[in-house]
Amino acid sequence: MVSTPNMAVDFAGIRMSNPVNTASGTFGFGWQFESFQDVSRLGAITCKGCAPVPWPGNPGSRMAETASGMLNSVGLANPGIRAFVKDNGAYLTRLSERGVAVICQVAGHSLDDYVRAVELYEELAPFASGIEINISCPNVSEGGAAMGATPSKAAEVMRAVRPRSARSLIVKMAPHDVSEVARALEAAGADALSLVNTIPAMAIDVRTRRSRLSRPTAGLSGPAIHPIAVRMVWEAARATSIPVCGIGGVTTGEEAAEFILAGATAVGVGTVSLYDPAAAGRILDELTTWVASQGVDDVNDLIGAFEC
Ligand SMILES: Cc1cc2nc3c(=O)[nH]c(=O)nc-3n(C[C@H](O)[C@H](O)[C@H](O)COP(=O)(O)O)c2cc1C
Repeated sequence: MVSTPNMAVDFAGIRMSNPVNTASGTFGFGWQFESFQDVSRLGAITCKGCAPVPWPGNPGSRMAETASGMLNSVGLANPGIRAFVKDNGAYLTRLSERGVAVICQVAGHSLDDYVRAVELYEELAPFASGIEINISCPNVSEGGAAMGATPSKAAEVMRAVRPRSARSLIVKMAPHDVSEVARALEAAGADALSLVNTIPAMAIDVRTRRSRLSRPTAGLSGPAIHPIAVRMVWEAARATSIPVCGIGGVTTGEEAAEFILAGATAVGVGTVSLYDPAAAGRILDELTTWVASQGVDDVNDLIGAFEC
């Protein structure tokens, strides 16, 4: 038994003190969680996706609880990149100085939006270690998952944004055709992949015969999707040689460990933070305990150590 294993990982050039990241949209901009845990212990935080201009998101009911998970149709409500930086830049600069990698996320309705968003982060967000390109949101009518629906569409986005930034570019993939889309993204210059985003799903109120949310479909997250996410992370890691961040239904260190064994270098903590706001730090402690229990002194020795 090794008592203090090395937990630091290199995520596509982003140095993380440990593999624990936060999933975009479930951890605000970090400071909202400071009273629940020491955010500076985390390896990275990924901020809520922002677009070049503010978006109000979808109207009406945006969330519904389901068995072992939740549906959301927030629709990427965000303040726009300029307001995001103005209101959060000082905190995020301090957080990066405290050793946490800050990843900013791009939301877009069109190719031009993605390019403009990357340019704005380049200009306004020196605190960002990496930029995540979200081509997988299922809750917007234009852009979102449609931009990542096929290998050629995903690669088109990557080729458009790649020349605009020398920083590490991570692509948040849609949960389908994983191997093919992952290979296309790697070939188009992606530095890393993250998956999964929420999975398109429905919940019907049988009394009213209407959706339980304001739109017919929404995105499923939480423990219900974890085994699907583990399979997809394994597929992405096998299909490419770039690092992967595993996201989907993690509530414990052992579930994070599944992603590591499946080939993930980093793990995103999502929905659990909404009902247990101290979860990310607890998951880091549990993951560290698991690494030590494996008789290794470095978490990197366990990445992709799944035995078929
Ligand atoms: C309320 C909410 C808002 C989200 N907003 C975003 C977002 O802005 N960008 C994004 O890529 N994913 C977003 N997601 C998806 C999460 O980042 C994550 O990929 C997904 O929820 C699966 O992980 P989980 O099961 O651990 O929550 C959101 C999820 C929820 C529940």
